[in-house]
Amino acid sequence: MIETFHKIIELRRSVRKFKPGAVDSEVLRKLIDAARLGPSAANKQALIFIAVNDPSLAGKIFETQKFAAYLAGAGQPQPGEEPAAHILIARNRELEIAETIRDVGAAAQTILMGACAYGLGATWLRSFDRPKAAEILDLREIYVPDSVIALGIPGEAPEVVPIRDGDIKYWRDETGQHFVPKRSFEEVCFLNGYNKGWS
Ligand SMILES: Cc1cc2nc3c(=O)[nH]c(=O)nc-3n(C[C@H](O)[C@H](O)[C@H](O)COP(=O)(O)O)c2cc1C
Repeated sequence: MIETFHKIIELRRSVRKFKPGAVDSEVLRKLIDAARLGPSAANKQALIFIAVNDPSLAGKIFETQKFAAYLAGAGQPQPGEEPAAHILIARNRELEIAETIRDVGAAAQTILMGACAYGLGATWLRSFDRPKAAEILDLREIYVPDSVIALGIPGEAPEVVPIRDGDIKYWRDETGQHFVPKRSFEEVCFLNGYNKGWS
């Protein structure tokens, strides 16, 4: 179980190229059920989750999304690489409190990890046209679309690399391989006090 946990954490990357293939409704149900059970500030449980795998609707949601801002358009899935499914996370205005945005983070990470465990690729998006997505999904006024997670059969395997010259921007090489710079363990992780090391 511990090995599986670490494997999922290591394997999970934001995937922005997908292979053709549907995402089963039952898998989406399991993912949003897991998110529903996540931690919630004041236990308000102000989030709703709308899974989308109808090809026409999924295509419309895809059109609202902007992938990989640092790649200035080059990170947008190309024709044939689009996500087959989406999960929209929306906040209920009547139930939410300021801390509810943290609930969204917990729910999104649960979905991303779950997707990875099911062998799916996924990306958490905050760059999307919210009014358009609300219209496509018949969302009522009390719900604020917060985030959407695009999912599908993974068509790429991004790689974690150390940060070079302080640059945190992800990048792609000439073959299209995606690299994600991450701060080192030593830079951001401490034991028993700030700047105290592990060794
Ligand atoms: C709050 C949040 C919003 C994000 N929004 C987008 C987005 O709109 N489009 C996108 O392509 N990626 C988005 N991402 C994914 C990040 O770019 C990605 O997590 C980061 O580059 C690190 O890569 P990794 O997820 O593979 O570790 C978002 C991530 C977070 C946490």
